[in-house]
Amino acid sequence: DADPALRARYEAENVQLEQMAMSQDLSRQSNMIYTIPVVVHVVWRTTAQNISDQQILSQIDALNEDFARLNADTTNTPAGFQSVASATPFRFCLAQTDPSGNATNGIERRNTTTTSFSTNDNVKRYANGGLDPWDVNRYLNIWVCNMGGGILGYGELPTSGASATYGLVIAYNAFGRVGSGLLSAYNMGRTTVHEISHCFRLSHIWADDGGTCTGTDYCSDTPNQGAENYGCPTFPHYDNCSPSPGNGVQFMNYMDYTDDGCMYMFSAGQASRVNATFASGGPRNSFAQP
Ligand code: ARG
Ligand code: ZN
Ligand code: CA
Repeated sequence: DADPALRARYEAENVQLEQMAMSQDLSRQSNMIYTIPVVVHVVWRTTAQNISDQQILSQIDALNEDFARLNADTTNTPAGFQSVASATPFRFCLAQTDPSGNATNGIERRNTTTTSFSTNDNVKRYANGGLDPWDVNRYLNIWVCNMGGGILGYGELPTSGASATYGLVIAYNAFGRVGSGLLSAYNMGRTTVHEISHCFRLSHIWADDGGTCTGTDYCSDTPNQGAENYGCPTFPHYDNCSPSPGNGVQFMNYMDYTDDGCMYMFSAGQASRVNATFASGGPRNSFAQP
């Protein structure tokens, strides 16, 4: 979320979507499962960056577990957060048909001369050393590449009338959960879970408000939080926005910055927010069409 113009469009549409989320017929919504066709664009220079099909499939598996709350580590959820921990209605598959209607395995590769990519979206453009997106209204585009500056990934927030760059970018060493090059703190595929959640309209749980406790992630069931957490805090973890006593902050939420091994839940408020993104009237409703 590096583009200010897109950010402004997103903020303007946000109010309207909040109202929609609240007025949705929740009983009808709860039966709807969205299966999202994914295309993975692997843009590599060294052979280590040319990750295997197996590593890519391991990421799809991780998405299907985490978004459905079928991940094994849900058992770590503290009692105080169990009632708000929630599954979401998303399933993911590699695309089986490309934009021209031909059969595909949903994986595209390019040997580039670019040493590393930043958050400037060059990886999303063939002319700039990357690979062009597939129709952003029908495919979730994921680019995997070498990222500079210790960045693990970034994802674009949704606006109605999808931007040409809609999708997410993930570092090759933080993508999937099998592969010898994976960073040990980020080897469970959760960078991709986090960035997809931005694409589906989730904010950081600390609301990026500089520790003032005045911002919101628009979810009442994620406690107010001062700043991002790293590593692996112990429950309960308190800060200036959620002081003792109580549950403290929800550092085990996918929308914090903790290690992959220590984040394992979405809240019910987050689930209804992402649901509204794909429901009738939402900015990504194009994915609901058969
Ligand atoms: N955009 C964040 C970064 O680059 C991603 C953090 C993901 N965290 C994780 N545990 N996988 O730092
Ligand atoms: Zn983020
Ligand atoms: Ca909150």
